Amino acid sequence: MDAGFIIVLVLILAVGNDTVCEGAGSGGHPAFFVFGDSLVDIGNNNYLATSARADSPPYGIDYPTHRPTGRFSNGLNIPDLISEEMGWEPNMPYLSPDLTGQKLLTGSNFASAGVGILNDTGIQFVNIIRIPQQLDYFQQYQERVKALIGEAAMKKLIKEALVLVTLGGNDFVNNYYLLPSTARSLQFSLKAYIPFLISEYQKILKRLYELGVGKVLVTGTGPLGCVPAELATRSRAGECAADLQLASSLFNPQLVQMLDALNKDLSTKAFIGANTNIMHLEFITNPKAYGFTTSKMACCGQGPYNGMGLCTPLSSLCPNRDEYVFWDAFHPSEKANRLIVKQILKGSITYMHPMNLSSLMSLDSKPIT
Ligand SMILES: *[C@@H]1O[C@H](CO)[C@@H](O)[C@H](O)[C@H]1NC(C)=O
Ligand SMILES: *[C@@H]1O[C@H](CO)[C@@H](O)[C@H](O)[C@H]1NC(C)=O
Repeated sequence: MDAGFIIVLVLILAVGNDTVCEGAGSGGHPAFFVFGDSLVDIGNNNYLATSARADSPPYGIDYPTHRPTGRFSNGLNIPDLISEEMGWEPNMPYLSPDLTGQKLLTGSNFASAGVGILNDTGIQFVNIIRIPQQLDYFQQYQERVKALIGEAAMKKLIKEALVLVTLGGNDFVNNYYLLPSTARSLQFSLKAYIPFLISEYQKILKRLYELGVGKVLVTGTGPLGCVPAELATRSRAGECAADLQLASSLFNPQLVQMLDALNKDLSTKAFIGANTNIMHLEFITNPKAYGFTTSKMACCGQGPYNGMGLCTPLSSLCPNRDEYVFWDAFHPSEKANRLIVKQILKGSITYMHPMNLSSLMSLDSKPIT
């Protein structure tokens, strides 16, 4: 290859890059993709025959439309608030029939309430979009975008996009600890189950990386033993359930270590981890410091701590959702989600490893080779 040829090639690449710049994302901002469970589902399960759904009131009571959308929140959830903080328009669920044409270019949300890292998590919900299927949909999405803007521009869009992955909670509450004895709890001690989950999680993240992504925010689990559902069923006097607390305190640091190893193996800075356990524990320990009146009672529910069963139109409902850490028996309120997103964006190394989301977004993405 002579020098002249190389110069021409460089010019072609430079010109090519310029033209895709306009097309990548829409309105000049990175695309946003979301994978995971009910903490980040924005309505995919509305299109499925599953019991894991949030499409009836009072879900959505504080959403801009004041109607249920499928979000497991009184209002916005974590991906909505990331978009809001970034100044991006909100995403659409991948299964929405309205997600077509140019709208595809701002990204999409593939999350489905009830799923976990493992395929056998959430089997009681029957029809949910398990992670291998979420990734298959992402491949299908890429084909659709390629048809719209061409392969090079599609790859650039994917590489520069932000990806959020939230998984793990259901592998405990809707698998290992679902019943007093489960196939997984017979197979593994808790100390052996967590490294197994982490190694399966690593395979998922590797596949995602092979699909061309360049910026991935991975959140850990919250303090699973402190959610109103567990206070109602596993706690004697309102203390957080010890076995689930041990699970989240082991899972989060091992997740961060795995992300470090993955960055090293792949020679990338693509993966950052949020220690959502520590973030959330701070409101639980000291709710008043954050403007909450309680971190034990759910806003919507019934029974002790409003933690029994689902949040339905017949449940007791609190008048001011901002005073509650938990909206329902398992899910944070919009207010709690807002505080978590602030830490994700700007938090110190205690919360965000090896860097916070603002720093990740300011890194230059590597050119496609
Ligand atoms: C989960 O299911 C997918 C297919 O749906 C399969 O390819 C994958 O190997 C399964 N994962 C595990 C850990 O069994
Ligand atoms: C966010 O991360 C960057 C470095 O990665 C750091 O300089 C900055 O201090 C972090 N923000 C806070 C509040 O720690």
